[in-house]
Amino acid sequence: GLKLTFYTTLAGTLYVSYELYKESNPPKQVPQSTAFANGLKKKELVILGTGWGAISLLKKLDTSLYNVTVVSPRSFFLFTPLLPSTPVGTIEMKSIVEPVRSIARRTPGEVHYIEAEALDVDPKAKKVMVQSVSEDEYFVSSLSYDYLVVSVGAKTTTFNIPGVYGNANFLKEIEDAQNIRMKLMKTIEQASSFPVNDPERKRLLTFVVVGGGPTGVEFAAELQDYINQDLRKWMPDLSKEMKVILIEALPNILNMFDKTLIKYAEDLFARDEIDLQVNTAVKVVEPTYIRTLQNGQTNTDIEYGMLVWATGNEPIDFSKTLMSRIPEQTNRRGLLINDKLELLGSENSIYAIGDCTAHTGFFPTAQVAHQEGEYLAKILDKKLQIEQLEWDILNSTDETEVSRLQKEVNLRKSKLDKFNYKHMGALAYIGSETAIADLHMGDSSYQLKGMFAFLFWKSAYLAMCLSIRNRILIAMDWTKVYFLGRDSSV
Ligand code: FAD
Ligand code: NAI
Repeated sequence: GLKLTFYTTLAGTLYVSYELYKESNPPKQVPQSTAFANGLKKKELVILGTGWGAISLLKKLDTSLYNVTVVSPRSFFLFTPLLPSTPVGTIEMKSIVEPVRSIARRTPGEVHYIEAEALDVDPKAKKVMVQSVSEDEYFVSSLSYDYLVVSVGAKTTTFNIPGVYGNANFLKEIEDAQNIRMKLMKTIEQASSFPVNDPERKRLLTFVVVGGGPTGVEFAAELQDYINQDLRKWMPDLSKEMKVILIEALPNILNMFDKTLIKYAEDLFARDEIDLQVNTAVKVVEPTYIRTLQNGQTNTDIEYGMLVWATGNEPIDFSKTLMSRIPEQTNRRGLLINDKLELLGSENSIYAIGDCTAHTGFFPTAQVAHQEGEYLAKILDKKLQIEQLEWDILNSTDETEVSRLQKEVNLRKSKLDKFNYKHMGALAYIGSETAIADLHMGDSSYQLKGMFAFLFWKSAYLAMCLSIRNRILIAMDWTKVYFLGRDSSV
């Protein structure tokens, strides 16, 4: 037993050290150039975004095959699955981000990064207009592309409900998590300055989360954990007055999960004293209260001290502008693509992946964006091999060789597979060290819940991390919280 532990620890340490060494010692990269050694022009590949889709593509792509430029206002990748754990300090924000520069530096070819926002595309001229986002200068420039990959994500929808902007906090980006953390701390301190039974104290200590999708559920669970496990120790009286309310318009939360798991989560919320209000749609948001419609009949006002809004996705302005440039783009929910992820109407030069697309049949998740990014890396690789062969045909005078090469080109073109999404399942943390997992393997599905599912959730997320550095930091955060509790003071 002791020997086995020793050798497992040794193997683990060696593996981690080797991976860390590899991550911090990137290889020499092939520089960008106008042409390959055989004279074939090197194509310009512009990738918009640094999220799940874009980074999965970048990590898998042989970047020496294209002149790759990444454009994004966010200079880092964000591991969104653990974002709901950050506002209350279960996970530190630094642990779930990875600079795009270090990711790009670890690929085989030189990659340019521009910290800018794409504004518009001219699909005919193959140009994308970008605006730099540095604090003191906002200038617009245009980039030419041969292939453009749009992976700009989506924003949180408000359904044009009045008052959401300005009063509610979103939970999409790292700044959102920072804002929630500040607001939470400020609200708690403000409440403590009012005497017990003061209505203002009661209002401030009411935390409302709108949207019973996984974002809202996971955040409500983390907040209730923070109250039960940490604030109970440091502010025993005040913490008992704190109330978390989760509001969902539909009859159930977590609608993408199996019914037994939904029931399990709802029962756990009842036990943990999260006030779950289903069949309740928020209609208006005011600075200190929300007006809801319950069961389509009763108007009820709920006062709040902090409001977190998580009601799903809608396209960002750039995606809407792109849709307006292409007549075939007729879906207001997102960019329309074919089964090879090509943007409809873009004549094979624009691809779109991830949350910016109008997915049909599956939810907009990191799992989908990741698989799409990896698929596209393979396709771009294969496309270049075909172009190399076509170039050889152009430059060959030997007819038999030309005919052989042509056959090869046709074969390779016929082998350009369609994107085939493999759904592995869904996971969600629901509080009190419990999670739910709806796993899919082939035609079978398995449901896990409770403590074991929580351990599975933890291991799955560690495995999903895109760097060993993130894995180590996240594991350290979990260990720290286990022994020392959460620190959400700043
Ligand atoms: P994103 O990852 O959102 O990336 C978009 C990128 O585009 C960003 O870098 C952004 O800065 C950039 N960008 C924005 N505008 C522009 C512009 N104009 N020009 C250029 N770049 C631009 N999915 C799961 O599968 N499992 C989970 O556990 C999970 N948890 C989640 C938790 C939270 C809190 C949230 C919000 C989402 C979660 N998701 C999860 C969903 C998952 O994060 C998304 O489906 C995924 O991020 C989509 O990837 P994407 O590349 O399309 O977009
Ligand atoms: P969502 O679209 O999954 O859920 C939003 C919920 O808000 C819906 O249930 C909707 O009925 C409700 N809603 C809408 N308007 C409302 C209103 N006015 N009042 C009350 N309720 C209202 O959105 P979410 O959670 O932000 O997730 C976005 C995407 O990211 C989803 O595809 C999700 O699968 C994915 N994600 C996955 C996670 C995971 O797998 N663990 C974690 C977080 C997000």
